Amino acid sequence: MKVGVLGAGTMGAGIAQVAAQSGHKVVLVDVNEKAIEIAKSKLSKIIARLVEKEKWTEDFGSAVLGRINFSTQMEDFEGSGLIIEAIVENIEVKHGVFSKLESIVDEQCILASNTSSLSIAAIGSVLKNPSRVIGIHFFNPAPLMPLVEIIPAVQTDEHITEQARNIVDSWKKVTVLAKDTPGFIVNRVARPFYGEALRIYEEGIADFATIDWAMTALGGFRMGPFTLMDYIGNDINYTVTESVFKAFYYDPRYKPSFTQKRHAEAGYLGRKSGRGYFDYSENATAIDP
Ligand code: NAI
Repeated sequence: MKVGVLGAGTMGAGIAQVAAQSGHKVVLVDVNEKAIEIAKSKLSKIIARLVEKEKWTEDFGSAVLGRINFSTQMEDFEGSGLIIEAIVENIEVKHGVFSKLESIVDEQCILASNTSSLSIAAIGSVLKNPSRVIGIHFFNPAPLMPLVEIIPAVQTDEHITEQARNIVDSWKKVTVLAKDTPGFIVNRVARPFYGEALRIYEEGIADFATIDWAMTALGGFRMGPFTLMDYIGNDINYTVTESVFKAFYYDPRYKPSFTQKRHAEAGYLGRKSGRGYFDYSENATAIDP
């Protein structure tokens, strides 16, 4: 089965790798030519490293890369059995692409979104046949994180849910069914982890590095909340928090933070921009603005 992935950013490139290493022909599409170039070079480097570390043979590595076609044209999705959308977290933009997808692929194709926080029912509402919409939510980095949430919308046919789950299970992932509610399971549980850490900082109780140290050295977490937000991207993480906050009728438990908003606005997005709560540049020294 041919798999289409829309959006060649952090998540899309990882999902394309997962599908290709499981034997699928993959088409990875992005509107942005530069994003395609970055994804291509990132995937080549990751695969070369896996071969170098002898986790993959050279033949397997080149076969995986050879199975991924990079494109800027959604029309290249024609003939796919599953499309996973991983573009910006914006319902209007997602509506536009889902309507277009329906005109390209045939009736049997499953149309999935990797959204972290938007309603799958709302995404599917623009489709002529919304029974084939589903949430397939990976975690970052997709090739390494075993868990995938499968989120049927109220419109989703149960055979589509079963089929989608079987496909992702065959990719050696651990799937969990979640209801179509804001943040599903993991992102909802994670909101207070970030939110309280930001509030602790804003109340002047401790700085970023101290909070992270306490949570890792004392709390046993693998990453502290600020390191994790820098890993995810402050723009993405902020948008998800805002979306969950709105979706829960402005419940103050999920209130977004100005500290994070300002970091995102300043372009302090985290690792991907070289600076977030911490400095990732070559001459890095700890930052605590
Ligand atoms: P990203 O910003 O790294 O990549 C998004 C890509 O989509 C960009 O390359 C952009 O050029 C492309 N794009 C935007 N509009 C497009 C369109 N109309 N058609 C085709 N391509 C388009 O974003 P990221 O982090 O990969 O997130 C993508 C989705 O995955 C979002 O819905 C996000 O909530 C979700 N997600 C993100 C996670 C993370 O840790 N970053 C984890 C799990 C889900």
